[in-house]
Amino acid sequence: MISENTSDFKSLAERPRAYLCRRFTPAVEAALRERFDLAVNEDDAILPPEEMVRRARDAQVLFVTATESLRAPALAGLPQLKAVATLSVGHDHIDLQAAQAAGIAVLHTPDVLSDACADVAMMLLLNACRRGLEGDRLVRSGAWQGWAPTQLLGMGLQGKVLGIFGMGRIGRAIAERARGFGLQVHYHNRSRLEPTLAQGASYHATLDGLLAASDILMVAAPGAPALRGVLDAGRLALLRRGAVLVNISRGDLVDDEALIAALRSGQLRAAGLDVFANEPRVHPGYRELDNVFLTPHIGSATEETRDAMGWLLIDGLEALADGRQPTNRLC
Ligand code: DGY
Repeated sequence: MISENTSDFKSLAERPRAYLCRRFTPAVEAALRERFDLAVNEDDAILPPEEMVRRARDAQVLFVTATESLRAPALAGLPQLKAVATLSVGHDHIDLQAAQAAGIAVLHTPDVLSDACADVAMMLLLNACRRGLEGDRLVRSGAWQGWAPTQLLGMGLQGKVLGIFGMGRIGRAIAERARGFGLQVHYHNRSRLEPTLAQGASYHATLDGLLAASDILMVAAPGAPALRGVLDAGRLALLRRGAVLVNISRGDLVDDEALIAALRSGQLRAAGLDVFANEPRVHPGYRELDNVFLTPHIGSATEETRDAMGWLLIDGLEALADGRQPTNRLC
């Protein structure tokens, strides 16, 4: 999908006009101010598409995140735009075909966030399996009566099957960590990985096959329209009774009603969720459940990672300006 044509971008002025839709880390913002004639959404509120278009109308470069939706009508409202740089690896919020058709380059931030996201995936997994929310609540409440042999018993990890749905860069970083916890790694991907990447993980040609084999399901597949609601009631029923589900990808891959029903009935023991359909409006059913550990989409939220993501976008834009092909270009 990558266009060979970088000439449009090369013709930009020394300091292209750019609009920053969300506040980036101070180091990255300082670097952007040096390189661009930069206007900033100072209060960092999420911008609806019409407002983003109004503010960025003259921008040649637009910095967005997964909270900004860039569909064809918004792109059409930005006639000066030559490049979009999204501070995310996911790009389901951008219509790449429309961008390509309009000659707009799109850059994202793969690789540099894989370790941070994998760390949060393990945090969710551990908290779901070992009842982190209930333990924290018990200590904070002052109601804890002391150690007890049957208190807050969770699920052990040794020898259990971790089924990773989506064995890309983040999925593989999760697998690496999971092996250290004694988990057996299985995965489902569109295609089988080479042995050096699979590192002994067992491949399932179908998602249903992976679900039937998993004690813990890790959702790490990229967000995409074709995957919306893929984990519906029928698929969740394929998991072993008492299984655990973790989602580090995009909320809309999971049918919320079905997951909440499975958590209520005991079909699933617990879940750990960092992402939600319609963020930040989280389905209220999750808030009522003690067996769900929730975090507010913080997979890549470390200082080091957010700096690295910003620098990757800057490097990519500099490559475009030099007539080189950035490694992080989507189209
Ligand atoms: C990503 O990089 O896609 C994260 O989910 C943040 O949006």
